[in-house]
Amino acid sequence: MAEKKTFPEHVAVIMDGNGRWAKAHNQPRLFGHNAGMQAMKRIVIAAQESGVRYLTVYAFSTENWKRSTEEVQGIFRLIVKYVESELRELKENNVHINILGDYSMLPEASVRSLETLIGETKVNDGLKFNICLNYGGRDEIARAVNELTVKRMEQGLTPAECPVTEEEIARYLYTGSEHFGIPDPDLIIRTSGEERMSNFLTWQAAYSELMFTDTLWPDFGPEEFKQMLSDFGKRDRRFGGRKEEGK
Ligand code: IPE
Ligand code: IPE
Ligand code: MG
Repeated sequence: MAEKKTFPEHVAVIMDGNGRWAKAHNQPRLFGHNAGMQAMKRIVIAAQESGVRYLTVYAFSTENWKRSTEEVQGIFRLIVKYVESELRELKENNVHINILGDYSMLPEASVRSLETLIGETKVNDGLKFNICLNYGGRDEIARAVNELTVKRMEQGLTPAECPVTEEEIARYLYTGSEHFGIPDPDLIIRTSGEERMSNFLTWQAAYSELMFTDTLWPDFGPEEFKQMLSDFGKRDRRFGGRKEEGK
């Protein structure tokens, strides 16, 4: 049972609405993705300032490959640009970056940039900034099950003798102790008025508080973010228990 928190230790964000923002400004979709990157930088700073320990952002889903090649390649080019312009500041600010998702499927230049980003920030012990790239919650669970099956076969363990537990599955997710060791998100924010999960943190979101805003991602700023962090304290998280039992 998780303890009662008045402040979210882990905040996850579905950064949605770049395309609609671009359309509203009579610009191509990539213009919106570029503005989305700027919004992301502002939220990283706001998270640090507020004392959030883990910030996880959904940047590209396993389903986003369905978009045009132009848009997909453009998004990946923006990642390289982001790393080039931000690496120094992220290092100075002690930010530790992890990538959740199989980013090996991205173009070579993006993979190289991401590896630099991971390598150069891995000793940092400040904000844990997790970027979900080619990430899907179902894909993550399937990968975890495959990994734990291999481990169990090596150890000669069968479910009959030793049933697979929730803890065991969780351990092999990207967020699990076999990988990055990230706690479940306390708060998940989605911008742009859509109210769905779109395959984000499917396992980990079981008891997350959800907040939705109509603001399109490029317009989402520190003020609204900090208001949400403060509103989190008013939520009554019961985790299936009862209030009077102090949960
Ligand atoms: C979110 O913005 C960014 C990605 C999914 C990569 P969208 O591109 O989904 O923007 P809308 O939903 O079309 O407005
Ligand atoms: C979710 O947004 C994925 C990211 C923000 C990266 P989408 O725009 O892809 O989600 P749907 O298609 O509206 O569900
Ligand atoms: Mg969208």
